[in-house]
Amino acid sequence: MSTTIMKTATKTPFESFLTQHDEEGWLAAVTALLRSIHEVDKTATQIWFSFYPLELFTALQQAADPVQLARELLLQGDYYLKNQIDSSHKFIYGHRFWPEVKKAVEQHADKWNKLQPVSNTPLPQAPDQSLANEILDVAQIVARELKLGPSLLVGITAVAFMTVRQTGLEAFKAAPGKVLLDAKHAKKSPVQVLSARAKDDSQGFFGFLKTVDKKWTVNHDENDDSANYKLNNAQDLAWGAEADRSRDWRALDPRRVEGPIPVECRSASCGTCWVGVIGGAEKLSDVAAREGKQIKKFGYIDTTEPKPLIRLACQAQAHGAVSIVIPPWNGVFGKHLGKTRQDDSDS
Ligand code: FES
Repeated sequence: MSTTIMKTATKTPFESFLTQHDEEGWLAAVTALLRSIHEVDKTATQIWFSFYPLELFTALQQAADPVQLARELLLQGDYYLKNQIDSSHKFIYGHRFWPEVKKAVEQHADKWNKLQPVSNTPLPQAPDQSLANEILDVAQIVARELKLGPSLLVGITAVAFMTVRQTGLEAFKAAPGKVLLDAKHAKKSPVQVLSARAKDDSQGFFGFLKTVDKKWTVNHDENDDSANYKLNNAQDLAWGAEADRSRDWRALDPRRVEGPIPVECRSASCGTCWVGVIGGAEKLSDVAAREGKQIKKFGYIDTTEPKPLIRLACQAQAHGAVSIVIPPWNGVFGKHLGKTRQDDSDS
């Protein structure tokens, strides 16, 4: 549990409760919740928590000069959740229920704040107030209201809690709370989404004879039917994206200089090309030694899994169709976080 007190204005009791949990505490809560999250959002929720690490937010918040720190960590793109309160989770199935989830979290926070005195010091943690249980309670309230299974609400509710943690309750409340999907995609069922993710490209009648000339589809936005590109069997994800000239990618995101995936070095040196693998992770090559070492140095994920949910697109080779999510920012902050953790444990 973090003992650091943020340099901010007085927090509401609900915000203080959320602040009591450090990155490890949040990840433990998400892990505890995984069994309650619907298959359609299990991976997506974990990807979202990798895309918006609390430790990076805290480091920037506590820095004497956040702009300078962002420069040192080579941060590019939009890494602040406060700028994307309604949009950061568009790739999560539960985004469809965002207006109801957002409202329920606000009401839950208001109830908390009425019951507890305003304080800027961490509250003693009551055993019945575990973060995972709080999230589950709110998800169940929304599930009853919408007459849905709670499993479709748990992931997005966890996201809403972390969004309050990183943006503050006031900014969270001020966001419009909109669903940002068109009617066609908003109507898709979890089964439809899961079966689209599981689908592989047909290679034609003699497909079983093909080797290198097999072609696979990579989808990089499940809510946009045109967000697909093809690559050859065993090409890396970034290589395939380069040929996609279907729109002005740079106008959408200045980091996208060669197709939809931001790239610079293409050799696991810069960290620009990280992606979340929402479907088909098993169809990518195993993480090789260099990718494993570098992705940890960048700060994106710390795992020894051979096919994790976060990959470097310039290193992961596809042997089947995959569905990915492109984060809105990149940087190199693993070393900085390692040092902060060391300082915390020394103090
Ligand atoms: S493009 Fe630099 S790490 Fe992939």
